[in-house]
Amino acid sequence: MLHDPNRVFVFDTTLRDGEQVPGCQLSTPEKIEIAKALELLGVDVIEAGFPISSPGDFQSVVELSKAVTNPIICALTRANKGDIDSAAAALKYAKHPRIHTGIGASDMHIKYKFNSTREQILERAVDAVKYAKKFVEDIEFYAEDAGRADNEFLAQMVEAVIAAGATVVNIPDTNGYCLPEQYGAKILYLKENVKNIDQAIISVHCHNDLGLATANTVAGIVNGARQIECTINGIGERAGNTALEEVAMILKTHKALNLHTNINSKHFTEISNMVSRMMRMPVQPNKAIIGKNAFAHSSGIHQDGFLKHRENYEIMNPEDVGLIEAGIILTARSGRHALKHHLERLGYDNEKLNLDDVYQRFLVLADEKKEISDDDLLFLMSDGDESA
Ligand code: KIV
Ligand code: ZN
Repeated sequence: MLHDPNRVFVFDTTLRDGEQVPGCQLSTPEKIEIAKALELLGVDVIEAGFPISSPGDFQSVVELSKAVTNPIICALTRANKGDIDSAAAALKYAKHPRIHTGIGASDMHIKYKFNSTREQILERAVDAVKYAKKFVEDIEFYAEDAGRADNEFLAQMVEAVIAAGATVVNIPDTNGYCLPEQYGAKILYLKENVKNIDQAIISVHCHNDLGLATANTVAGIVNGARQIECTINGIGERAGNTALEEVAMILKTHKALNLHTNINSKHFTEISNMVSRMMRMPVQPNKAIIGKNAFAHSSGIHQDGFLKHRENYEIMNPEDVGLIEAGIILTARSGRHALKHHLERLGYDNEKLNLDDVYQRFLVLADEKKEISDDDLLFLMSDGDESA
């Protein structure tokens, strides 16, 4: 049913799963600003909120539906009529509306969350999809805690909701439990055992409790899923969701996978900063792709190799994620090669310098300051006999 079988759709849930994080709550104008940035980034679906959860969330979905027109706007519900009515009303102005409804699929959730049985849960799942279908054509069904669900029952559920009208089936590893091999095998099992699976897109939604969200997401798409659910900076419940920027750069870097998205990665740095600032959630310096140190080379051996040929130590181009300049960080571990590079950049003629002397004074300052900025270098040079 897809035009391009290698196209992976990107479903961003920064404004729903991400915004659930305590302290990350946003005002409607902030959500609109992020949604517009997501549109520019090229995401296919924006999960705008969970309308029944509060009047504020409802209103945000309404306003986002008006403000953003290219991506699908999606609203979350549980498998009940009240939630679905609310989502349908909130999506009234959306040009491309989607209702995302679902229910627990693992025996753990069925027994201890719903105090129910597999049969009853199946019935509720099908009823919810059929009811949502009365309002919009595009229905995504999530089988919550699919990561821990029995594959046979999961396949039965997926087949039933597709028959009821689901266009996308989301297989969440809600608790970030699976190993990549297990999660990949689960997706493959569904591809091979659900009779009508070609009538829907399989979506992967992974949490990062064991630090495996990105690996599981990649395992999912390698095994046939064609939508990824993710957030900017990987924010989300507990240890977070799959980071959008990580999966997009994996697909860009590993061309042999022959999978691609519509994402313009050059916007990553800007949108990451925007989300971090608005949600008051700092990004860890060593975070892949968008952390402060993700493209910073600090040891002498690496800096020397990098300056000889950047691909010695760079598998991605920093410009591709929106960084203006790759970072050779000057520290006490830096060698002469890196120091010369920075001096040249600041306009000094290395031929005219007593580099041994400058380097010795640089090491003393670097031991004291840990990281040497351009201003520190200028100070160092004005302090000696070396003025440019
Ligand atoms: O993690 C999860 O299972 C979810 C669903 C509501 C899609 O966020
Ligand atoms: Zn989630």
